Amino acid sequence: MHVSRRNTLKIIGSGAIILAASSCTGPDKSSSFPDPAAAWHDAALETDVLRFGLAHGLLAPNPHNRQPWMLDLHDSYSASLYVDTDKDLPQTDPFDRQLTIGLGCFLELFAISVAELGYRAEFELFPEGSSAQSLDTRPVAKITIHASNSLKADPLFTHIYNRRSNRSKFAKSLITATDARQIAGADTKTIAGFTTDKAQIEALRQICVTAAKIEFLTPRTYMESVNLMRIGDEEIAQNPDGLAINGPAISLLKRMGIVTRKTLADPASSAFKQGLRQYIAAARTATGFVWIATPTNSRSEQIMAGRAYVRQNLRATQLGIAMHPLSQALQEYPEMQQELIKVHETTKTSGQRLQMLARIGYAKAVNPSPRFPLAAKLTSNEQTKTG
Ligand SMILES: Cc1cc2nc3c(=O)[nH]c(=O)nc-3n(C[C@H](O)[C@H](O)[C@H](O)COP(=O)(O)O)c2cc1C
Repeated sequence: MHVSRRNTLKIIGSGAIILAASSCTGPDKSSSFPDPAAAWHDAALETDVLRFGLAHGLLAPNPHNRQPWMLDLHDSYSASLYVDTDKDLPQTDPFDRQLTIGLGCFLELFAISVAELGYRAEFELFPEGSSAQSLDTRPVAKITIHASNSLKADPLFTHIYNRRSNRSKFAKSLITATDARQIAGADTKTIAGFTTDKAQIEALRQICVTAAKIEFLTPRTYMESVNLMRIGDEEIAQNPDGLAINGPAISLLKRMGIVTRKTLADPASSAFKQGLRQYIAAARTATGFVWIATPTNSRSEQIMAGRAYVRQNLRATQLGIAMHPLSQALQEYPEMQQELIKVHETTKTSGQRLQMLARIGYAKAVNPSPRFPLAAKLTSNEQTKTG
């Protein structure tokens, strides 16, 4: 089939494809690779309590979908969570703050899931200490489960399967303050905030837009994303992590050399411009914002922020509200410094550490993002044991 350049650009412009997508389109029947979305239904099939918790933990939101968790199973009741130090994001997350938040999300989903089976999760955080500079090979948490008769199941559990980070444009319908308050209040251990105020929303939209432009137009921070892009179903199935770019026309555009890592990296290309335009256009459709701050910025507070964030995301899912973290302004590199100050001022969190900021609104559901299976995340000892 011949596709003219004009038509091709129309294809790019017509579909919410580039960067807007980070999800699976479903199993590709012709692919010899496993279904990258299998983890979303396999989790419920685990019959062992500890593995049930871990298989749900890995459905957690996490920066750039790096899935930085590694697990060492000790016995049927305990395991250690480690970070895979190869999964860091040195440009946009120089102190592994966001990575730690993602690990907190993992732990919260673990706790909610084992509670469903009548078990209480206990976490000993950083049992061998931690560094504020970077995560290292020391354990992030020692995880233990205890059978409990008094434990109540968490109503958020069933929403784990439909929770998403939704990068689409949101509808114009307004979010009520009551709903936004319920999302923010899904966790009470951090300083959570929200806004549905028109002027404050506009100020935050503007900060997110400026911050996105800084990240996209700073070559070293943008290239960190480009290097993690998985373009088309086959790449996604081979590497079910990173920033998945798919959609009906992507394979064709890739074959034509229009959407490739090279074109996406070139600020003069239409693929790059379209990616930035879509991210900004989506940020501008926020009809509310929720955020999480902590008094200081310790590793355990970052874990706490992750636990809080995923609870907010699950509560939003329960309410039928889409959520999308916009983290650019919160990042710690020199070019972002002004936006980091501004975002604290605008959310009235100056003096604390803003850990998460997400836009909320109404949007069509999106597909689940890819995941490596639990077996790929067990330390080599375990892989040998489980065959
Ligand atoms: C700490 C943290 C920061 C994130 N920042 C962003 C962001 O700035 N932009 C974005 O599109 N997604 C962001 N996300 C969402 C992740 O990209 C998303 O969780 C991951 O791709 C997996 O997709 P899922 O949440 O739909 O399962 C962030 C997630 C976490 C936990």
